[in-house]
Amino acid sequence: MTKPLNWGLLSTANINRALITPLRASARNVLTAVGSRSQVSADAYAREWNIPTAHGSYESLLADPDVDVIYNSTPNHIHAEWTIKALQAGKHVLCEKPIGLSVAEVDAMAAAAAENKRVLTEAFMYRHHPQTLKARELVASGAIGKLQLVRGSFTFSMPSEVNIRLDPALGGGSIWDVGCYPISFARFIIGTEPLEVFGQQVTGRSGVDDSFFGQMKFPGEVYAQFDSGFRTPFRTHIEIVGSEGTITVPSPFKPGLDEKISLYREDKTESITIPSQELYIGEVEDMADCILSGKSQHMSLADSRANVAAIVALLESAKTGRPVNL
Ligand SMILES: NC(=O)c1ccc[n+]([C@@H]2O[C@H](COP(=O)([O-])OP(=O)(O)OC[C@H]3O[C@@H](n4cnc5c(N)ncnc54)[C@H](OP(=O)(O)O)[C@@H]3O)[C@@H](O)[C@H]2O)c1
Repeated sequence: MTKPLNWGLLSTANINRALITPLRASARNVLTAVGSRSQVSADAYAREWNIPTAHGSYESLLADPDVDVIYNSTPNHIHAEWTIKALQAGKHVLCEKPIGLSVAEVDAMAAAAAENKRVLTEAFMYRHHPQTLKARELVASGAIGKLQLVRGSFTFSMPSEVNIRLDPALGGGSIWDVGCYPISFARFIIGTEPLEVFGQQVTGRSGVDDSFFGQMKFPGEVYAQFDSGFRTPFRTHIEIVGSEGTITVPSPFKPGLDEKISLYREDKTESITIPSQELYIGEVEDMADCILSGKSQHMSLADSRANVAAIVALLESAKTGRPVNL
């Protein structure tokens, strides 16, 4: 059997805990190291999570010869910088969403991955889940006729005023943080890229979009509408509308182990049970497939780039008050 991949966590972010369980459940992956901006915090984190090696700087983690894969869970504004450094250090990288804050950043990251012959993927975990694949399969099979509209929401109520998500300098804002999910879901279901977008935002005290409302026009008169935000209770939802029916996905971005989606057509509603799958295992196993078996990645960098391009255009539209062509 091939040697398992050794993973290093780049930062002590809250989201790391989502990855630790699947890493430990997977036979092909091992969590070996964590890197933090301070040795004290790295040591405390390593003790808490029983991680063998604690590095007191990101540079030191990247220089660790025992680490094969970096999970980049830093704030959005340094995803590109540290992903590129990790790739140049010969590591494969699973980078948290949004992979970058501009198309130029994504292009530089993709170039570094190609030059160093390493795998780089955006950690859009929901894209690996059987529920997402089922929704797309239903649409592609014509189950709801001609696709017309994908509507989605992702909002939650921010518990504190001190959060990376509220800081414009760290790549904060609701569209980058959670709006990226319904935008990505719509693009995946529709299977093409938006031609024109229009966005409006409510700007919060810190200067980021506290709420964002967007519309995207796709080829063939297909539309997507979404909202994202930090100032309303937790809401996630996807509705897919076609000429012959609708599909409703109540928990599209963070599905649990027991999910059902609804297919409404010919005046009947069918409840479709989704095979149970731990949410974060798919992205971990996909990295192992790509690195160990040379498989193509499930979600391409071109796909990630197009999501970032759509978000940048929506923000530009909200700023200028005009639709933006892509
Ligand atoms: N896929 C998902 O389900 C999901 C869910 C939540 C978040 N995320 C993504 O994961 C990333 C981290 O989110 P999070 O909520 O887990 O963040 P968080 O708890 O605030 O942690 C961010 C970490 O980044 C490091 N860091 C480096 N520079 C920093 C700076 N200037 N200010 C603050 N922290 C800094 C810190 O680690 P050290 O002090 O150890 O260096 C900090 O612990 C974001 O990109 C977010 O979009 C993804």
